[in-house]
Amino acid sequence: MQQGLVVANRTDRPSRSGEDMPDKPIVCIQGLGFVGAAMAAAVADAVNGSGERLFSVIGVELDTPAGRSRATAINEGRFPFHCPDDRLQTAITEAYRAGNLRATTDEPVYEQADIVVVDVPLDVRDDSDDPTCDLSGFEAAIRTLGRRLRPGSLVMIETTVPPGTCANVAAPCLAAELRARGLPPESVLLAHSYERVMPGPDYFESIVNYWRVYAGHTDEAADACEAFLSKVVNVADYPLRRLRSTTASETAKVLENSYRAVNIAFIEEWGRLAEAMDVDLFEVVEAVRDRPTHSNIRQPGFGVGGYCLPKDPLFPAVAARLFLDNDRMAFPFSRSAVEINRRMPVTNLDRLEAVFGPVGGKTLLLLGIAYRSDVDDTRSAPAELFYREASARGARVICHDPYVRRWEETGLEIPSALPNPAHADAIVFAVPHRMYREMDVAEWLSHASPFVANPFVYDCDNVLEDDMRERLRGLGCRVESTGRGLGL
Ligand SMILES: NC(=O)c1ccc[n+]([C@@H]2O[C@H](COP(=O)([O-])OP(=O)(O)OC[C@H]3O[C@@H](n4cnc5c(N)ncnc54)[C@H](O)[C@@H]3O)[C@@H](O)[C@H]2O)c1
Repeated sequence: MQQGLVVANRTDRPSRSGEDMPDKPIVCIQGLGFVGAAMAAAVADAVNGSGERLFSVIGVELDTPAGRSRATAINEGRFPFHCPDDRLQTAITEAYRAGNLRATTDEPVYEQADIVVVDVPLDVRDDSDDPTCDLSGFEAAIRTLGRRLRPGSLVMIETTVPPGTCANVAAPCLAAELRARGLPPESVLLAHSYERVMPGPDYFESIVNYWRVYAGHTDEAADACEAFLSKVVNVADYPLRRLRSTTASETAKVLENSYRAVNIAFIEEWGRLAEAMDVDLFEVVEAVRDRPTHSNIRQPGFGVGGYCLPKDPLFPAVAARLFLDNDRMAFPFSRSAVEINRRMPVTNLDRLEAVFGPVGGKTLLLLGIAYRSDVDDTRSAPAELFYREASARGARVICHDPYVRRWEETGLEIPSALPNPAHADAIVFAVPHRMYREMDVAEWLSHASPFVANPFVYDCDNVLEDDMRERLRGLGCRVESTGRGLGL
């Protein structure tokens, strides 16, 4: 067995059927990020009708500080990120005890694999009129597999990619490496099946109890992908959906996320109208949602962040240019949605200043910096732009988040205890973390020392219930919200 840097101290771990459980198919997960680490747990958790574990899972990471730290966490039976989902943590703990989940940074481990799930990142560069995509890291990841995998093994790509990437990039990369080894180009099977995983309280369930789309580069690959997914996903309740080509499956992923991004951007302008016309847009949206055809209309908020929604709507235009040599397919709706969503935290800051006055010289307490509720992921978080813009306008911004201790993007250390509100001129609720939704904000403010006379509370994401806003007003606070007219 090849052992890498990170698995070397694994000898004291229990194993149910020998060191590497060679009787079980080996599944390598390439990339142990927010998707790969959770997918590794879901695959390791898969059992047959007798409750026996079906796979031996090996997470494979880059030999970088972040990669080593993620692999070490898995080898110690921990999820590498804040895990708000007990089910996911239990799956990791039980797989650790069973000995069918480990991680390494050692590439040769792919030589043992029957299946590889690709969960590496793919970024979009959006600093010009034409977004671009550097495929070199993705290509390198696929070429590694082509150099190592045995004939007959399956590569299932979960990375979100420009439509056409499997056919135009992954398949040729694999084929070139296989040919160099004297193997037929299609001796390794290639499939695409994207993740709809949702980090948060239902992290694990969003992988195993959720609908899945997949497609194969060949029929044989599609069949192998279906057979694998049928063992990991609860297909009795959530049947798989096979599409005709990997390009169709890739398109489904970016279409889904583009639809959501456009839906969010669409409601933005209505927020401004509601604020100006003394309407509560949340009340309006609730009414509209009663109509089944409109039940998923979005609502006003603080902004859009995370790794997916800020970039995925840009992939179709990238695909048209890369694979069709067509720069006229500009996708203006998607493009403008990305821009509107990106500006949302500044729009929030502008409204805050419109009702509270200029923030220059004032202290703001920003509650919530993760990109969404109950996660510790700060990638492309709207709080970053809010923080930078408010600071540039002269405000002192004190930040808090129950899940983030070090805010990588700004270099700030974040205290775990709620800061004293007495030191703030304005308290900004930015993210609807459970902690903020469940805390008694009125109690917190009324016990602040020294007593907070007339604090200004601004709710950017419908964190406070109606009755809490009223209680705060009863204490003498001024409370306003994004998406609501003044005093609502
Ligand atoms: N985060 C989400 O909620 C989510 C949801 C659905 C889909 N996705 C998509 O899934 C993909 C992965 O997203 P993520 O959030 O897990 O990213 P991430 O950045 O958290 O994790 C990716 C990991 O891959 C590792 N990596 C990079 N190259 C590698 C290589 N050659 N070999 C081994 N490891 C390598 C990196 O070190 C990193 O740890 C992206 O395409 C993303 O758009 C993400």
